[in-house]
Amino acid sequence: MCGVVGYVGSSPATPIILEGLKKLEYRGYDSSGVAVLDKDGLKVEKKMGRLAELEKALAGRELDATVGIGHTRWATHGRPSDVNAHPHTSNDGKIAVVHNGIIENYLQLREWLTSRGHVFKSETDTEVIPHLIEHFYKGDLVEAVQKTVSHLEGSYAIMAISVDQPDRIVAVRQDMPLVVGLGEGENFLASDIPALLKYTRNCYLLNDGDVVELRADQVVIRDITGKIVQKEIFKVTWDAEEAEKGGYDHFMLKEIHEQPRALRDTLKGRISHKGDKVILEEINMTPEQIKGIKKIVITACGTAYHAGLVGKYVIEQLVRIPVEVDIASEFRYRDPIIDKDTLVVVVSQSGETADTLAALREARRRGARVVAVTNVIASSVAREADDIIYTWAGPEISVASTKAYTTQLVAMYLLALYLAQHRNTMAAGNIKEILDELKELYVKAQDVLDNEAPIKEFAEKYSQHEDAFFIGRGLDYAVALEGSLKLKEISYIHAEAYAAGELKHGTLALIVENIPVIALATQQSLFEKMVSNIKEVKARDARVIALAMEGHTEVEKVADQVIYIPKTHPVLAPILTVIPLQLLAYYMAVYRGCDVDKPRNLAKSVTVE
Ligand code: F6R
Repeated sequence: MCGVVGYVGSSPATPIILEGLKKLEYRGYDSSGVAVLDKDGLKVEKKMGRLAELEKALAGRELDATVGIGHTRWATHGRPSDVNAHPHTSNDGKIAVVHNGIIENYLQLREWLTSRGHVFKSETDTEVIPHLIEHFYKGDLVEAVQKTVSHLEGSYAIMAISVDQPDRIVAVRQDMPLVVGLGEGENFLASDIPALLKYTRNCYLLNDGDVVELRADQVVIRDITGKIVQKEIFKVTWDAEEAEKGGYDHFMLKEIHEQPRALRDTLKGRISHKGDKVILEEINMTPEQIKGIKKIVITACGTAYHAGLVGKYVIEQLVRIPVEVDIASEFRYRDPIIDKDTLVVVVSQSGETADTLAALREARRRGARVVAVTNVIASSVAREADDIIYTWAGPEISVASTKAYTTQLVAMYLLALYLAQHRNTMAAGNIKEILDELKELYVKAQDVLDNEAPIKEFAEKYSQHEDAFFIGRGLDYAVALEGSLKLKEISYIHAEAYAAGELKHGTLALIVENIPVIALATQQSLFEKMVSNIKEVKARDARVIALAMEGHTEVEKVADQVIYIPKTHPVLAPILTVIPLQLLAYYMAVYRGCDVDKPRNLAKSVTVE
């Protein structure tokens, strides 16, 4: 995810673009840049790091250009660096482009352009765009952009400026957000409305394929067929903070709803065309090294640790290698038994958690190979690990982790299947079966999100209770732990997760009349056992909401309420099961009047011990 901003008017463009980029930093922040057109031509400045680095680089410069484009980046193709930062320019240095999205056929295009003498400076997919525009430019930037996008496969919001037509920006979108802001004698473009709100509340919302020609006193929009279209003005009525949340009441809810997109993005490019193999380009182990793994240790904190627990069940089941999961703050001090035949997997959304980083260093010091699963490019964990699996959740703002967790689960599945394929522990057909299902999971995740009414109802009914219990077996137990953490951290309800079979060894004493119990029963092989456990708590008059897979209607006989998740392969169920639990925690917290995005005493990134 990246953010783009454009300005054409009579005020200095750079401060307006920087202001807009600040509002879009939530979309990505590993590098940023601007390109402006003034009387001397095209000027580009770009810097790796937060926006403050770009501001420093621009400090003291004369900023009188009144046309420009800017970008804040969250790297996909090409690591974060000054060179890979946007804007990118054409061979002749006359055209500059910013882009949010992914150009899937960039390698072919790059080869084709190289064979025609174009020289590339960066490792990005984006750089083919200014080169193509230059190739097609015959005096009309709109036409050159239209021809360029007809050769692009993928998703994009693109803005281009050219020295030869210095009074305009030409922009186009396909599957990526882009809005036009309408001013008096000035006009704007941005990925998202918050970047515009300081200047205007009048917008044009664009459709896929729309091409915008933006000038100070005129905005012309052509549809995919090239026909000029008249758009209705959309008047923004939300305040700036509401706008950043994209219409949701809280970042947490927005991020919960972003999960279908995040799941898809995390899988992009990682399943072979035939759909039968996992491709993990960031893993550099040789086949011998993979075959030589004797033990896997997964270490992490909090929600990431819970993703690791799912990883243990899945890897042990599919790869038959013993897996230990350890809390990073324990691992580093318990003199762990690991050596060169141990694969250590560290999981960290931020990639900066002090304990996880220390665990990584301890593992490497003892000779283990370390794979990092992280959401932040070039984070400390990513830089120090031997191999990386990036999750493409996009920046997570809410303290309570949601989309990072489900994408970490995707990373666990990909790793397990990758190891299984190299160690021949699964038949090719079985790998394909799980991959087919994994590819479609985002649709089912959307179905779960669309069915939130009963969860909201349960939350309203039980939000004033001070205790809650989560029970499950196998993978459901791992998910129960995550559900209970979510509830604790944002609603301050005392919640505990138990392996359902363990209840009668002590905890059953706490089950009293009306206490809410969330029973996870999605695993076919453990279903009957779970039904018995639900009966146990019902016999103590608990109020049970059960989560089961579609078709398992038997559970209705024992639970007070049932939420069904769509049918999927049992190992993949956690991704769907956790979504109602996230929503439950969210609505419980809302009904209790808690500060959902910033729970008391907690920080998003724990960089101290
Ligand atoms: C809970 C939560 C935390 C983090 C933990 C690790 O919702 O977000 O438990 O999962 O602090 O953080 P990362 O993944 O950044 O290492």
